Amino acid sequence: MIKKIALTGDRPTGCLHLGHYIGTLKSRVELQNSYEQYVMVADIQALTDYYSNPKKIADSLLEVVADYISVGIDPNISTIFVQSQIKALPLLNVLFMNMVTTSRLERIPTVKNEILQKGFGDSIPVGFFGYPISQAADITAFKAQIIPVGDDQLPIIELCNEIVRRFNRIYNTNCLLEAEAYLSKTTRLVGIDGQAKASKSLGNAIFLSDTPEVVKEKVFSMYTDPDHIKVSDLGKVEGNVVFVYLDAFHENKEEVAELKVRYQKGGLGDVALKSLLNNTLQNLLEPIREKRASLKKDFLMDCISDGTKRANIVADKTLEEVVEAVGLNYFA
Ligand code: TRP
Repeated sequence: MIKKIALTGDRPTGCLHLGHYIGTLKSRVELQNSYEQYVMVADIQALTDYYSNPKKIADSLLEVVADYISVGIDPNISTIFVQSQIKALPLLNVLFMNMVTTSRLERIPTVKNEILQKGFGDSIPVGFFGYPISQAADITAFKAQIIPVGDDQLPIIELCNEIVRRFNRIYNTNCLLEAEAYLSKTTRLVGIDGQAKASKSLGNAIFLSDTPEVVKEKVFSMYTDPDHIKVSDLGKVEGNVVFVYLDAFHENKEEVAELKVRYQKGGLGDVALKSLLNNTLQNLLEPIREKRASLKKDFLMDCISDGTKRANIVADKTLEEVVEAVGLNYFA
């Protein structure tokens, strides 16, 4: 039976954190057996806002690959590759750019938010502004139909599907396929400070590679309920980061439900609660940390260079079909 193709990726701007784990990494480990899966280190997309600091991206490359493999993405089953080395992507991107208007890009909420967050003001680099188009190239080059991503990526997949439909109609082909997001139950993890999203740039995330001491320190600094001072005080569960993390990571949902009741009634202290979360996270992260420590640089390099070779073969084939559909195969 031919397996459908799944494709995802991350920008390499540092190590991956628990938000990535619960949002997409876990899904990828689950999906890799039922789909032909491609996992891309999106260095070119990272450069759209880090172009003046390419070293940071290059230095993060193997860190991200190490994160992938240590959570259980198996490089023999999934194809892990580097975006910048896939020769077909730039040409697909340029062809797709003709099919998207600037006002359509302006309406993408994800891009709007990022422009604000990154403080571009009126000086938005064209490369950054157009990254959703380049992401459509990533997806279609592999004929991916399943995209395990966070919910912030939904509007970008929608744009990708618009491009696919337009392209296929205009060039009278069916060589591009529409794709569908695969969302995990927790698609977005709050930061340890209670901010809407845990992220590297906000400095409020727990990294998969954090030491046990750092994890503990971060857990004990988590935002809980500022009015819950004595153990006997009635506590609030909504907006309480410790409970959000317990919901996301504790295996026993009944136990968490009971704890919530006790916390709200008064009689359960923050220290006890944070200790439980600390244990939960240490248990999750310990094997990941151990696996990470066993991975040698040469092995990681071999994995992505092999993966990139395999990925180029697939993307080249799609590009050939695209070139033919547009009629650019002058010398064939
Ligand atoms: N935009 C994604 C992120 O910031 C990374 C990415 C690039 C991606 N190309 C992709 C994700 C293709 C899914 C499919 O995390």
